Amino acid sequence: MMWASVSLLLVSALLPGKFIAECCPRICLCDNIKYQVMCLNKNLTEVPVNIPQVTQRLDLRGNKIKVIPAGAFFPIPYLTHMRLQRCKVEIIEEGAFRGLGRLIYLNLASNNIAFIYQESLDGLSSLRQLILENNHIEEIKPGAFGQLGFLSFLNLARNSLVYLPDMVFQGLQLIKWINLSHNSLHVLANEAFGGLPTLKRLRIDYNELQFLPTEVLSRLSGTNRLDLGHNPITYIGEEALEMASLKQLFLNNMALQDVSYRAFVKSPMLHTLDLHNNQLSVLQPLTEMAHLQKINLTGNPVLCTCYMRPFKEWAAKARIHSDAVCAGPAAFRGEQLESMRTTDMKCGGHASEEELLPFLPTVTREPEQNAVRCPEGCTCSPDYQHGNCGSRNFQSIPKGFPSNTQLLDLHNNEFHSIPKGSFLGLKNLTSLHLQNCKIAALKPGAFQDLTKLVYLYLSNNGISSLDADVFKGATQLSYLYLDHNGFTQIPKGTFSLLPNLFALYLQHNSIGQLTDNDLAGLEKLQWLYLTGNRITHVSAKALGQAKLLEKLHLDENFLQEVPTKSLRGLPNLRELKLSKNPIKCIGDGAFLPVARSLQHLYLDNMGVEQISSGAFTGLGPKIKSLHLEKNKMHSLPNLRGFTALEVINLSDIPFYCDCQLLPLYKWLDKLNLRVGATCDSPADVRGQKVKLVTTFQNCPSWSTKKTKQTSATKTKVKTKAGRSFNKSQ
Ligand SMILES: *[C@@H]1O[C@H](CO)[C@@H](O)[C@H](O)[C@H]1NC(C)=O
Ligand SMILES: *[C@@H]1O[C@H](CO)[C@@H](O)[C@H](O)[C@H]1NC(C)=O
Ligand SMILES: *[C@@H]1O[C@H](CO)[C@@H](O)[C@H](O)[C@H]1NC(C)=O
Ligand SMILES: *[C@@H]1O[C@H](CO)[C@@H](O)[C@H](O)[C@H]1NC(C)=O
Ligand SMILES: *[C@@H]1O[C@H](CO)[C@@H](O)[C@H](O)[C@H]1NC(C)=O
Repeated sequence: MMWASVSLLLVSALLPGKFIAECCPRICLCDNIKYQVMCLNKNLTEVPVNIPQVTQRLDLRGNKIKVIPAGAFFPIPYLTHMRLQRCKVEIIEEGAFRGLGRLIYLNLASNNIAFIYQESLDGLSSLRQLILENNHIEEIKPGAFGQLGFLSFLNLARNSLVYLPDMVFQGLQLIKWINLSHNSLHVLANEAFGGLPTLKRLRIDYNELQFLPTEVLSRLSGTNRLDLGHNPITYIGEEALEMASLKQLFLNNMALQDVSYRAFVKSPMLHTLDLHNNQLSVLQPLTEMAHLQKINLTGNPVLCTCYMRPFKEWAAKARIHSDAVCAGPAAFRGEQLESMRTTDMKCGGHASEEELLPFLPTVTREPEQNAVRCPEGCTCSPDYQHGNCGSRNFQSIPKGFPSNTQLLDLHNNEFHSIPKGSFLGLKNLTSLHLQNCKIAALKPGAFQDLTKLVYLYLSNNGISSLDADVFKGATQLSYLYLDHNGFTQIPKGTFSLLPNLFALYLQHNSIGQLTDNDLAGLEKLQWLYLTGNRITHVSAKALGQAKLLEKLHLDENFLQEVPTKSLRGLPNLRELKLSKNPIKCIGDGAFLPVARSLQHLYLDNMGVEQISSGAFTGLGPKIKSLHLEKNKMHSLPNLRGFTALEVINLSDIPFYCDCQLLPLYKWLDKLNLRVGATCDSPADVRGQKVKLVTTFQNCPSWSTKKTKQTSATKTKVKTKAGRSFNKSQ
């Protein structure tokens, strides 16, 4: 009551009373000069109605808005800044922010958000800053940021991310900074940072990376500052970092014991290298790094012996300051490496290894401290809630992990079978690694209790069938790896217990065909990998139940035709791989069922002899990549409609470069992409690039192109089906 009257008083001092009485929500403060509405710490359970339509800044911090429903902000479309911190938000419904096309700043920090759905952020087409710090985000669906083409700053720090899938940041075309500090990132898919050419600065410090993710990071060609500190990485090998623009690299507070002198040679612009607080006792000179100016070695137990001499000499010559302090030998403890005389840096004689050890500073992390229970032969890390028993020759699943374990690595053992209740009590487990364990059987109830399991890795085993109940209870399972096993068909019935399955990896099995209802129950499946099986046939109703399917990899199988009928009912299919199937002929309308969504089409290495003129009907402006290399046809249908291509590969196709190929030639002439199209015949042009062949200039229709047509010439186009229609140019 009191608040209400205070706010009314304040506000009426600022504004004509009428407007307020009508438009300001009773418990908020409205400032119509700044077009600002503040409703701080009011225990509001929903976005108040009655906010003036013209409001530009809305401050809702400290309320109790559990759900932001679709269209919640439709009545206030002029918002530019919104603060929603500490609002106990759990769910952002798909479409929650639609209508906010002017919003440039959105702060959702310190809420309870666990998932970012694919369309949660739709509509925020002008957003520059998105702050999602300090939530419980475990998973982000690729495409979630797809509509944020103007975002430049994304803060995802202090969440619970374990894994980043391929292309998770797709669509962030202008992004400059991403902050992923303080998560639990353990695995990054190879293309996790794909499509981010403008990213300048990335923070992945305070995560759980155990290796430097070389390939993943190599996608960040424009990034110049990378923070990787506070990850449990122990060594950095040769050519471990391949980042063309990287200038500043932070590798502090890790567990580094060894850094190769060639670790950074593929990041030639490196200027500052921070290695403070690691366990390096020796470092070799980084002679190939021409731009390096600073190395920080403070807090490392550097041994100022002859082994460190080359480094010291190199650093002095290159005028690189390292701040290294000698931890030994005893006589030089505490001295600056820089002020040592090289002649004093000796080996052998008085300074034996044991003598030095007592002087090594204690390591920053102390695994023994709060002795946690952990099965014998395994290591359990309380900091990271990890259990690690990989490659230890276990014959049965060890028991007795801490009950808060989140990641359990058991790969490379010999379990043969996983009995019922193998993981009882591990209710917080999100990631379970059982790759390469000679497993032939998973017993019903094997994964009992794993109600939070998201990632299950069963690759490289001998599993050929699954009991229908085997995944009972693991309802959160989203990523299931069953590749390199012995399946001869898709296991039936099993998947209906996995309503959240997002990605199913079944590549390199011996599956012979896909039959009706094979994917029953997989209503959320988006990625299906079936590369390298023996599939000869896909029945018409095999895939339809996975309505959300986005990626379908059917490459390296035995299909003899494009499975057009089975693509019906897949309105979201974006990527189709059919490479390396023995498909000789691609007929009219082969991709028609998915023509509205398809973006990436792989038809390479198939031995295709003919592609009929209507084969690509429907495809066009959506397609971003088209792979046709290594086939046997002599020409191609008209590609005029493909206006958004980013990649097209036409290499190793035996083009017959006569006048029939003129349309392709003209199209290529305007295309600003490398395509690799080469003539194979006639003999006089064999080996020449199609684009460069001059004989096309002698074709009858060449001149019509050059002499500008004044009257709208109508060209009759006859389709294969015999229908004809007019096209005016
Ligand atoms: C909000 O709720 C808390 C706890 O119920 C209470 O202490 C506080 O006074 C309430 N604040 C307002 C503005 O109503
Ligand atoms: C990233 O997040 C961390 C952790 O919350 C924070 O300390 C840091 O300031 C953030 N950095 C940037 C650039 O936003
Ligand atoms: C090295 O890092 C330490 C710790 O962050 C800092 O105090 C010191 O100033 C740094 N030295 C240089 C040369 O940057
Ligand atoms: C499991 O995680 C939840 C939420 O993070 C936590 O509250 C709970 O204590 C954990 N359970 C165990 C047994 O550690
Ligand atoms: C086309 O594919 C071939 C074989 O994979 C590859 O070597 C070549 O670089 C690609 N060319 C283009 C233009 O993408």
